[in-house]
Amino acid sequence: MTKTILATGGAGYIGSHVTLELLTSGYEVVVFDNLSNSSAKSIERVSRITNGAPHFIEGDVRDASALDHLFETFSIDAVIHLAGLKAVGESVAHPERYYDVNVAGSTTLFNAMFRHNVKHAVFSSSATVYGEPETMPLTESSPTGPLNPYGATKLMVEQILQDITGASPGWRSMILRYFNPVGAHVSGEIGEDPLGFPNNLFPFIAQVATGHRDLLQIFGDDYNTADGTAIRDYIHVMDLARGHVKAIDYLLANESKENSTPIVNLGTGVGSSVKEVLIAWEQACGFPIKSEITARRAGDVQISYADAQKAKELLGWETLYDLPRMCKDHWRWQKGNPEGYR
Ligand code: NAD
Ligand code: WQD
Repeated sequence: MTKTILATGGAGYIGSHVTLELLTSGYEVVVFDNLSNSSAKSIERVSRITNGAPHFIEGDVRDASALDHLFETFSIDAVIHLAGLKAVGESVAHPERYYDVNVAGSTTLFNAMFRHNVKHAVFSSSATVYGEPETMPLTESSPTGPLNPYGATKLMVEQILQDITGASPGWRSMILRYFNPVGAHVSGEIGEDPLGFPNNLFPFIAQVATGHRDLLQIFGDDYNTADGTAIRDYIHVMDLARGHVKAIDYLLANESKENSTPIVNLGTGVGSSVKEVLIAWEQACGFPIKSEITARRAGDVQISYADAQKAKELLGWETLYDLPRMCKDHWRWQKGNPEGYR
């Protein structure tokens, strides 16, 4: 029988790709999103690409009665909880918003799952929980120490989900720690559409490439790396989306196993510097992208990349796409949709 997955935040950048991948893998999907950082057009486009309309309900994860109504309307087998706020700088300026949406929103959702006997959750966590790492690559047991309220909310929800799952018969959950998601679906129809000033490297370069921004500021070239710029583990959003399908397959296939909450890194295991990313982007676009070196950005770590072994062993998941492909797919989306979904 077809299983039905609730994707909170399913209209967002990662959520729309996860929804698409779930639909093409034979799942039914209910998207629940308040559209505070996304557009319903992403869901329309996912429907068009897959010929299989996901259900869409506009609502807030902090709204218990809206969640009750959803769980009464649909028979949900598992939840992927992507909804949340994700801007590091905003979380420093307005931590109250982050504790409210990310933490209170998650407990409201988990309580609604209790009321409706839904026992499987996948949670969108982040490599940001590792803070300033001491050794590389980062394994799931590397020390945690978030450097900002956003990261703190992710670590808190990890703990909450582990505690609830461990204490509740029949519950089985999974925590996915994403590294740096980039790229877009090969159709060029869905992709990252930041509202306002882009905080992250790929969307910023994409807007320089379309002429919406003058130049890329490279935040520091005095790091202890080969070319002096900071290193990250960029992962194609479609590899990430496939990781979620594997996580759901795993939880639903192992119903009888004891309740537990594995933590799994989703990264490639390969680090790329800002300058390497810029070169790959220039090759993808076929023209130079203007840049200048500026001071380091406060709160940035020098190097971060994953040990991706656990995902391979537990889920049989490995990434398929390299940096050139990430740039190519991100550029196709941006070029075809220079104003995003607007
Ligand atoms: P996004 O902003 O595109 O998606 C989040 C979605 O949640 C949006 O559609 C937004 O409208 C929705 N949302 C926000 N508050 C809500 C609320 N109160 N109720 C219902 N819906 C709400 O961001 P994304 O990049 O797709 O991130 C998805 C998840 O992955 C987030 O939890 C984020 O913290 C996590 N994550 C993202 C990254 C990244 O670099 N993009 C890295 C690690 C983890
Ligand atoms: C990557 C590299 C910058 C922009 C952030 C969040 C993290 C996670 C992913 C959600 C860094 C450099 C960037 C620019 C630059 N999100 N850079 N010029 O900082 O690794 O992680 O997004 O969980 O929580 O902190 O990603 O894309 O912002 O930066 O030189 O205009 O690019 O300094 O070295 P980051 P990023």
